[in-house]
Amino acid sequence: KLKDTRDTETVLLREKHIGPSCALFFREDPLKMVRARGQYMFDEGGRRYLDQPDVIKAAGKQLELLSTSSRVLHDSTVEYAKRLAQTLPEKLSVCYFTNSGSEANDLALSLARHYRGHQDVVTLDHAYHGHVSSLLDISPYTFRKGKDVWKEFVHVAPAPDTYRGKYRDDHPDPASAYADHVRQIIEEAHKGGRKISLFGSSFEFQILSLLQTDPPSLPHPQYGKQSDIDSARGTQHIFFLTVQPS
Ligand SMILES: Cc1ncc(COP(=O)(O)O)c(C=O)c1O
Repeated sequence: KLKDTRDTETVLLREKHIGPSCALFFREDPLKMVRARGQYMFDEGGRRYLDQPDVIKAAGKQLELLSTSSRVLHDSTVEYAKRLAQTLPEKLSVCYFTNSGSEANDLALSLARHYRGHQDVVTLDHAYHGHVSSLLDISPYTFRKGKDVWKEFVHVAPAPDTYRGKYRDDHPDPASAYADHVRQIIEEAHKGGRKISLFGSSFEFQILSLLQTDPPSLPHPQYGKQSDIDSARGTQHIFFLTVQPS
């Protein structure tokens, strides 16, 4: 049984035994979950947060039955893939199941590079795509901090932020202005003899997230113009999108 320590003690133990690169969120007032019931989780102070009991129950049931590798036959793997595919456009019918966002994005990167035969990636400024080395390379959030080198195959587009970004609410058409930047970056890269294999977008910056599905499933009022979707689609690049449940 876990000892129920106060959060200051947990922080001290964390500083001692957990690597500092795994930075603690909300350092000033860290979040410490201590229990869950029904659809809620509760922190140390008794504050209530949403939880999802159906997911926990299903995961527990599956573990009780069998926990195995996805490299052997199992009905739950194929049934789940089939159900997922039924919620997506016809062309998106093949799944890979991974253990983390980093693993999923690393796989997306290799798939795109194999398929395209090119190395280059367009990424949004400030984006974070995961903690494995392939993704640190394409995450300005990390490589702009100094220690890592900005690789020549990485092209950074401005984040479509209408509060603090390059084009703001007072711009007549920020969506097209941001999309034009991406087009320019691709053209410049082509002029320099480079070829883009992938456009990576974190959910936080949904710029081209609408391009993931047809019809678009994540409409964002600023990026919803059909002409933008059509013209960016015309570039025939591969997009990946990370959705972070927290
Ligand atoms: C946008 C985004 N992409 C990828 C990741 C990496 O996911 P994971 O921590 O599951 O490897 C995160 C994690 O914070 C994220 O916020």
